[in-house]
Amino acid sequence: MAPDTAEHVGNPSERIDTTRPHSARVWDYWLGGKDNYAVDRDLGDQVERAFPHVVAMARAGRAFMRRAVAHLAEDAGIRQFLDVGTGMPTSPNVHEVAQGVARDARVVYVDNDPAVLAHARALLASTPEGSCAYLDADLREPGKVLARAGRSLDLGKPVAVTLISILHFIEDDEDAVGIVRRLMEPLPSGSYLAISHGTDDVGGPAVRNAQEAWNRTVVTPLTPRGRERFTELFFTRLGLEPVEPGIVQPQQWRPDAPLDGAEVPYWVGVARKP
Ligand SMILES: C[S@@+](CC[C@H](N)C(=O)[O-])C[C@H]1O[C@@H](n2cnc3c(N)ncnc32)[C@H](O)[C@@H]1O
Repeated sequence: MAPDTAEHVGNPSERIDTTRPHSARVWDYWLGGKDNYAVDRDLGDQVERAFPHVVAMARAGRAFMRRAVAHLAEDAGIRQFLDVGTGMPTSPNVHEVAQGVARDARVVYVDNDPAVLAHARALLASTPEGSCAYLDADLREPGKVLARAGRSLDLGKPVAVTLISILHFIEDDEDAVGIVRRLMEPLPSGSYLAISHGTDDVGGPAVRNAQEAWNRTVVTPLTPRGRERFTELFFTRLGLEPVEPGIVQPQQWRPDAPLDGAEVPYWVGVARKP
């Protein structure tokens, strides 16, 4: 299936801004990818100097996504995934994990960065039994995202929405809670929400310095949220109940390897819609 880019006009590479760092490309650099530019690597290195664990943090966040999707497919029986803020393809992507459990899993990817759109082909290699689609769309327009996702997913059946390392790019005055509410409200009972979110209540001043370095340069500024606020805003207020082990750092969520004790300035949770 070709990327669903019906509302996009022109060549995505013409929209790629290589003069300022972008979150998707800096993240790709930390994950060891090659889809990044000098401006992205410069900021990535600058943040790493302030907070040397940033690469481990990015990888722990990605590993959480992998375990959360595997859990949702395997234990919760979810067959439909809506992954918003997908980032550069980094194997295993959501569809590889989900279809590794259930070949008929259907996945819709969403990102608003033209650099991700330019690489979307790698996100579309579905099994014949399942499906993959890519939307060049913005989380801040949840109604549009759902309407377009509904062309590939059956929104009358449970869907797992994965917001991995994206919500901290939505500021409070952009109504982060309202956005997530509008995404989850139309979905049926038995749907799930998985989130990972940057915080400033873990890691002390080094983390805050790194976040300031990020906000001075990058196109999309970071709004870290502490554990209580994260839990209140995106789970309690929306009536969603986090599954075990609740709200923890990514490496602590159902780990599949021994923990090394390192702290990661992120909170993650997976919750079921009752
Ligand atoms: C830090 S990366 C995370 C990528 C991936 N989820 C992962 O965990 O490896 C954040 C992604 O969110 C995307 N993003 C940020 N704001 C967005 C928005 N308002 N709508 C859609 N995508 C957005 C960025 O382009 C980037 O690809």
